[in-house]
Amino acid sequence: MILTDGLTAAFWVKDVSMDEDGMKRIATAEAMMPVLATLRKKYERERPFDGFRLSACLHVTKETAVLCRVLRAGGADVALCASNPLSTQDDVAAALAVEGFKVYAFRGMTAQQYYTAIGRALSHGPDMTVDDGADLVTSIHKLSRGMSDESVSYVKQGLDEIMPQVSKIIGGTEETTTGVLRIRALEKEGLLLYPVIAVNDALSKSLFDNPLGTGQSALDGVLRATNVLVAGKTVVVAGFGRVGSGIAERAKGLGARVVVVEPDPVKALQAYMNGYMVMSMERAAGLGDIFITATGNIDVIRIEHFIKMKDGAILANAGHMDVEINKQDLQSIAEKVETVRENVALYRLHDGRKIFLLGDGRLVNLVCAEGHPSEVMDLSFALQAESLRYIAENHQRLEKKVIPVPAEIDRTVAALKLQSFGVELEKLTPKQMDYLKSWAAGT
Ligand code: NAD
Ligand code: ADE
Repeated sequence: MILTDGLTAAFWVKDVSMDEDGMKRIATAEAMMPVLATLRKKYERERPFDGFRLSACLHVTKETAVLCRVLRAGGADVALCASNPLSTQDDVAAALAVEGFKVYAFRGMTAQQYYTAIGRALSHGPDMTVDDGADLVTSIHKLSRGMSDESVSYVKQGLDEIMPQVSKIIGGTEETTTGVLRIRALEKEGLLLYPVIAVNDALSKSLFDNPLGTGQSALDGVLRATNVLVAGKTVVVAGFGRVGSGIAERAKGLGARVVVVEPDPVKALQAYMNGYMVMSMERAAGLGDIFITATGNIDVIRIEHFIKMKDGAILANAGHMDVEINKQDLQSIAEKVETVRENVALYRLHDGRKIFLLGDGRLVNLVCAEGHPSEVMDLSFALQAESLRYIAENHQRLEKKVIPVPAEIDRTVAALKLQSFGVELEKLTPKQMDYLKSWAAGT
């Protein structure tokens, strides 16, 4: 292993002395995550993860810290690396290191450091993996297939052994849409080495985290970075899926004229019927003041769009990867690039126009703000914890496939959240239950 600045066997963080601030920040999250608090008490009694090592590749935030503590309370030995080079909250990473978690993450990692950190987390020898975007799972698969691209060479720099014990991994979970797509692609090619639960696709996740969490925090990221007035602006949202629909709604709520760009006819129709203008990016490019991509796709905004944009256009991405806004294209028409505020790069184009890129085109809500609010991560991470428990208890009968979160877990997590709000559920009478199951009763 090549030792880089600050990398030890136990942790790799920016500055461990930031731990006190991190502890305080984690405490604020913990107070807003009642479902995880309930699970923690249960896990302390039942110890479902005793003897299990977990390697997690997640955004290292205060909410992730709460999840790590809950898993440890259930007996898990947890190692954590970042799932994005710019999303780590350094004080939180420091606090986790002081609490004895193996944490390999700091804000501003290079690609080499990012993948070396994944290698460190893999050296933990996981029985289960937790991923957000599938960089950990795909690294495992590339290693075990003897592939040798640049990312693998960096992962190897973090490994204690040449090859981690992949055969010991009994299962994993995936947090986000892009990660699920990548793991499904592995499954389709018959390459998936162990079962992975698609936490992203659970209803208690995708109905809340994607639209409400990203919807609010992406706008929060744009506002923290620029402090622009949204009212009266034209906001172009690329992608009207789970995330994009939430962003569009929040932008509308702030007084923007919202334009939606969407290739899927059903989703485009849904956007149109909800009162949004719907058009191609080619047309939207010249109209937008603020552009936010949320597609999971590549080259959504590219050179032919940049050349049509208004002077002063602001670009941000909320999708998992930094490929939605083509940064190379933007660079190619820029005379000069300068940082004009924290997280704001000004591209001065050859023709004199200015384009602002936020957070280097990476997840604007995590880079320019603090990611999803704790209340919504309470749901997503409760699903993560319960899905890991499900794997721990059922792995012998799980196929090497992408598996949905069991409906029972989805419902339990939603019910626990409602309980925390003091909301009572309607109970069906036996007559009502029979009626819903019968075919005989008619008009
Ligand atoms: P989704 O599949 O529900 O929606 C994506 C939409 O983008 C689809 O409607 C698709 O038709 C559309 N699309 C594809 N190519 C396009 C293009 N070139 N132009 C315009 N639209 C296009 O996915 P989702 O759950 O909304 O997730 C979107 C992205 O956001 C993924 O990368 C996901 O991993 C990420 N995500 C980020 C956060 C965050 O915290 N920032 C949270 C959840 C998900
Ligand atoms: N993804 C989006 N927001 C997040 C948060 N606050 N913590 C961890 N992962 C996230």
